[in-house]
Formats: sequence, structure tokens, C-alpha cells
Amino acid sequence: MEKITLKNGHIDMPVPEGIDLRQEILKLKKEKNAVILAHYYTTDEVQEIADYTGDSLGLSQQAAKTDADIIVFAGVHFMAETAKVLSPSKKVLIPDLATSCSLADSINEKTLSEFIKKYPEHTVISYVNTTAEVKALTDIVVTSSNAVKIVSQLPEDEKIIFGPDKNLGNYVKKITGRKNMVIWDGGCHVHDHFDAQALKKLKEEHPSAKVLAHPECNENILSQADFIGATSFLLKKSYEEPDNEFIVATEPGIFYEMKKRSPQKTFIPVPNENGHPLNVCVNMKRNSLKKIYLTLKYEFPEVDIPKHLADKAVVCINRMMSMS
Ligand code: 13P
Ligand code: SF4
Repeated sequence: MEKITLKNGHIDMPVPEGIDLRQEILKLKKEKNAVILAHYYTTDEVQEIADYTGDSLGLSQQAAKTDADIIVFAGVHFMAETAKVLSPSKKVLIPDLATSCSLADSINEKTLSEFIKKYPEHTVISYVNTTAEVKALTDIVVTSSNAVKIVSQLPEDEKIIFGPDKNLGNYVKKITGRKNMVIWDGGCHVHDHFDAQALKKLKEEHPSAKVLAHPECNENILSQADFIGATSFLLKKSYEEPDNEFIVATEPGIFYEMKKRSPQKTFIPVPNENGHPLNVCVNMKRNSLKKIYLTLKYEFPEVDIPKHLADKAVVCINRMMSMS
């Protein structure tokens, strides 16, 4: 096979003119026994071609149980790493290696090790939005779906380090009433920057709308919300609740699935602090049909994790799986 190189984290090659990327992807997928997993924050066309769309917990569960030979992970890098840790014998491909995450970038092996030294005898709980190196230093991984449930299962007086999302940490601390919890000072460049004043105004303009918010949002947003939870929880509320209007404080990629399930309902995005009406995760939006096609065709780039890290990371991820 010809040598393929990457530019800015992805294969940068022209595709034949007039090619139907959707059809080609479906063909390659069948030929290679591949499955495409996509996060709810990716673009509509990526979610449309995926075999499975979900939030970070759902995608991890799916990666652990698929019998495909190849997983193409359309999300961000740490999610593909988690898939690889859970399915080490499978080839995990990622359409763009530069799909970072501001939370995963806010903590690393060195800074967490120093923090752990400052707080000895603490149980280290890490949000799934972390690298494999950080997970290797972690006792239990959580996602926004199960963080409250998992922390509640620990003894009342357990000393806990929670990172890297301060908003999720403070939310979990408040709900579980834990006193001994030190929280890392990290934040998501999307969720920590919704405009609370704009949300207040939207609520006045749409008095019957329910507000859905992700726990990565800060308190100024969460205090105005009717429902707080992971992406899959917010989605569930959008179709299960009888209301017809929802104001949504999470990444707007979720509107694709919300509208698909409830075409008759209205979903209103909360703008970000810079006044942009759609507060998007630029990392998630780096996934595209062209990149998925090239990745599947050349089976590159692949996510690989050194065995010594994967062996440690799998322990804390499996702990999460059994506690959630
Ligand atoms: P979910 O657990 O809701 O998928 O959240 C992941 C994430 O990156 C939110 O920004
Ligand atoms: Fe990371 Fe925020 Fe993007 Fe989620 S929305 S992947 S937390 S940067």
C-alpha cells in the first residue's frame, strides 16, 4: 500500500471528482467489517452515516461489545482511546488525530501526579474526558451520565480527587453532599462559556420552554435549568417530556437527534459569551465524510496505546462500567 502521510492530523488527499462519499463509505464498511461510532456533537452528515450515535458512555459501551474488526471513531481523541482500551484486539481508526478536548488538555500525567502528592490517600476520580496517561493514574473513571451514581456508592467520608471538569465536579459535590472532595480547575471551552444573560432573556421570551443543560455548564447556567444531565439524558428529556419548546445549553450537534425524534418540537440554542448563536465544539466538527472515507480506505491513522498504559487504564474504566 502507498505511504500515507498526515497533515494537521488527517489524511489530506483529493478524492476522485464526482465520488459519492456516502456510498463509498458504506461499501468500504461492508468490505472491511467496520463500524462507525459517532458522538452526538458531530455534524449531521457524520451522525447520519454512523452505525451508532451516542454520548461518551453509550459509545464506550458500544465499542466494548461490537464484533466488527474495525472501529472508526468520529468524536474526539480521548473517546477513540477509550474504545481502544476496551477493544484492544480491534483496529481503532480516527478520522482526525487533532480532535483534542479542552478538558483532556487541561491535565496530564505530570500535573495530576503532583496533585496526587498534595492530596495523598485520596481516591482519584477522573472524567472520561482525559488521556490514557491520566486514566492510568486514576482509580475510577466517570462520565457525566454516571458521575453522581458512582460517587454516591463510595463511603461518605471517602477523600476524593475529582478532575478535570470543575463544573461537573461542583455539581457532583452539591448533589452527593460530599465534603472531602478536591476539584481540578479545568473547563470545557464550549460548556463553560454559554451566556447566562442571554439564557435569562430566552426564558423570558419563551416562558413555557424547558431548559436542558449539561453539567459541564457553570452554575450561572445550571441554576436556570429544568433538567441537568449528560447528552443522552437531555435527549431523552426532549422526547419524553410533553413540552413543545426546549432551550438547550449543550453543544448544538445534539439538535440533529432531537429534531429527528421530535420533528414537531422547537429547540432553541443558548448563544455563547461572544454572542455567537451556536456554541460549537470545533474539535467534534473536524470529523467529516471525506476524512471518514480516507481513514477507512487507507486504515490510517490508527489509535494505539502503549500496553503499560492500556493495562492500567482498563482497570479504572471497567470499574466505571461495573458501577454504572
Ligand atoms: P457526554 O458524556 O454527555 O457525551 O459528554 C461528553 C462531552 O464531551 C461533553 O462535552
Ligand atoms: Fe471536550 Fe468540550 Fe468538546 Fe466535549 S464539548 S469534547 S468537553 S471540548
